Amino acid sequence: MKRLIALCLVTLLPTPALAQTAGTSSVKQQIVPQVAKTGIMASAQSPDGRLRIEISTDNDGHMAYAVFRNGKPLIGTSRLGFNLTDGYALFRKMVFDGAETATANSRWEQPWGERRFVTDHHNELLVKFHQDEPTHRLLNVRFRLFDGGLGFRYEFPEQPNFKTVNIAEELTEFNVLPEGTAWWIPGGEWNRYEQIYQETPINAVSIAHTPITMRLKDGTHLSIHEAALVDYAAYWLKRQANGSFRTTLSPSSRGARVIRDTPFTTPWRTIRIADNAAGLVENDLELNLNEPNKLGDVSWIHPSKYIGIWWGMISGRWSWAEGPTHGATTARTKQYIDFAAKHGFRGVLVEGWNKGWNGDWFGHGDEFSFTEAVPDFDLPALSAYAKTKGVHLIGHHETGGNIANYEPQLEAAFAQNQRMGIEVTKTGYVADLGGIVAPGDKPGEVRMEYHDGQRQVQHLLKVVEVAAKYHNAIDTHEPVKDTGLRRTYPNWIDREGARGMEYNAWGPFANGPEHEPTLVYTRMLSGPMDFTPGILSLKGGNDVPLASTLAKQLGLYLAIYSPIQMAADLIENLEAHPRELDFISKVPADWSESHLIAGEVGDYAIFARKDRNSNNWYVGGVNDATPRTLDLSFDFLDPGKTYVATIYKDAPGETYLTDSRHQIAYDSKKVRRGDHYSLWLAPGGGAAMSLVPAR
Ligand code: NOJ
Ligand code: CA
Repeated sequence: MKRLIALCLVTLLPTPALAQTAGTSSVKQQIVPQVAKTGIMASAQSPDGRLRIEISTDNDGHMAYAVFRNGKPLIGTSRLGFNLTDGYALFRKMVFDGAETATANSRWEQPWGERRFVTDHHNELLVKFHQDEPTHRLLNVRFRLFDGGLGFRYEFPEQPNFKTVNIAEELTEFNVLPEGTAWWIPGGEWNRYEQIYQETPINAVSIAHTPITMRLKDGTHLSIHEAALVDYAAYWLKRQANGSFRTTLSPSSRGARVIRDTPFTTPWRTIRIADNAAGLVENDLELNLNEPNKLGDVSWIHPSKYIGIWWGMISGRWSWAEGPTHGATTARTKQYIDFAAKHGFRGVLVEGWNKGWNGDWFGHGDEFSFTEAVPDFDLPALSAYAKTKGVHLIGHHETGGNIANYEPQLEAAFAQNQRMGIEVTKTGYVADLGGIVAPGDKPGEVRMEYHDGQRQVQHLLKVVEVAAKYHNAIDTHEPVKDTGLRRTYPNWIDREGARGMEYNAWGPFANGPEHEPTLVYTRMLSGPMDFTPGILSLKGGNDVPLASTLAKQLGLYLAIYSPIQMAADLIENLEAHPRELDFISKVPADWSESHLIAGEVGDYAIFARKDRNSNNWYVGGVNDATPRTLDLSFDFLDPGKTYVATIYKDAPGETYLTDSRHQIAYDSKKVRRGDHYSLWLAPGGGAAMSLVPAR
């Protein structure tokens, strides 16, 4: 736990780097400004000393920060501040009032995750400003420096002349060195985050969602994002004329993009910084910047796998709406419950179970009921049947983006889910750009809001909080991006927020072979994803082919982390591949350790993960369109033990481009720490293996 102890006052003119305390103790130091009004006001460094920030003001009173790594500039002087809708911008005439430093070193345990224990070792610098205007407004910026990057947030203290803050725009800059490559999706577009990632020079980025990934010319890897997005608008990253990036907040129907009363803090603005791709992936920066678990005992949350009445609708064979091809019938759900029980899946998702699908729901959703089932779906009977089999239905709340219709039903819907043994509820906000229908300020009024604006950010957390009361975990589709809130609300177990498997149902090779090896280093840096792997038929609607080999479908269970992991294909297609189904039914969804053992951004990614509930290890991942041979080292294994490796890999000569994608090769051998394995990956290929200690 952090303990701040006032030690001494330091006067600095101009300010040299602040001393940092080692070990686990926490120290607070204060810097009091004296004569200097401009220049470098304060600085701090990461625990390992490799990262350093400098805070400065110029003659016009612009606040700025700069980041150095190994003594060299990494993020050039970057301004901080806000435009307001109703006052002088908090951007100029800012006067440095002093700074405080502290350090913290702790370890905390995740209830579920990629790893059980997370280390939080950082140095902190709190910088205080006031504006040289009659209003004398106060604004603080708190920086935290870790070995793997930094975060900073604005803090608006309680003050007499600033009760309500109406933010027109946030003006935070990231003046990244220009030479390098960026992987990004456009911000503010139709289909939200469900885009194919672009790989471009950094200076060709226009407006991007975060996390955005960059690799600089010298090999340094960066990811710019945010942490703890609560009661605030998400930001998009906009490239400015001078080449630096600047935040632009998701719009609001109310004019001001964010409206808050003081005191409040903004989300953290984050930059992961690493020497290589693994350093970017094995990095807990955003989790560390979130508040600890607010829910207390969360033993009611169960990481697990599920199947569902879903791919049949997505691929056009069944309908969500009632009628002759209705997917969610009582009979079919029983069949799925039986299959789940037989093969060890805890959950059965059923979409199209409720009233409201018969109309024009896409982007409207005002007819959805979240308590009333359609006549051919007997919810109480199916819940009782599932219980006898040790299986749980997974709830589904498609809102069509209409939160004005959804919010009044939340309590009743989650109370009913709990009574029905439902532990996880998938929500959905299908609507196009600007498509959330939200309650207005006056009774009966509705407004349109963005999927990542302040109103929707408030809504999504409200759903999570109501669901927690009824011991439901939430899997949000068409969500706002993940910013690590699973630490504070561990029942926000999953979300979509990228192009998932569903796109493969709608066109040949729709996601392309590079998609998943790019997701690993971009979208996945923000948190778990309900990608829904396991299309073992390798076919979507009208039999369109996937850009995937069979082994890649197994590799996805290691590459795309999700604490609730679907086996998404129709059950007859899963059953047609008994060996692959056996792997899927055994692969864990909760890990004590996770390591990227081979990989490059956008090319390939192989993980080694250790089961949270046994001594078994699993290895696997995905490849892009380039065939390659990897020399995998088993150095991660526990020393002195022999493991039996069961291996699923691409057959020689296989490629996603032809029907050879259905071939797969198997291997089995004993391995120990120090051994190596030569693994060939096909174009669009992948691999998976289980490593079980030999008896
Ligand atoms: C889009 C979701 O991503 C998909 O999984 C769901 O089936 C449909 N919306 C309908 O709710
Ligand atoms: Ca979707």
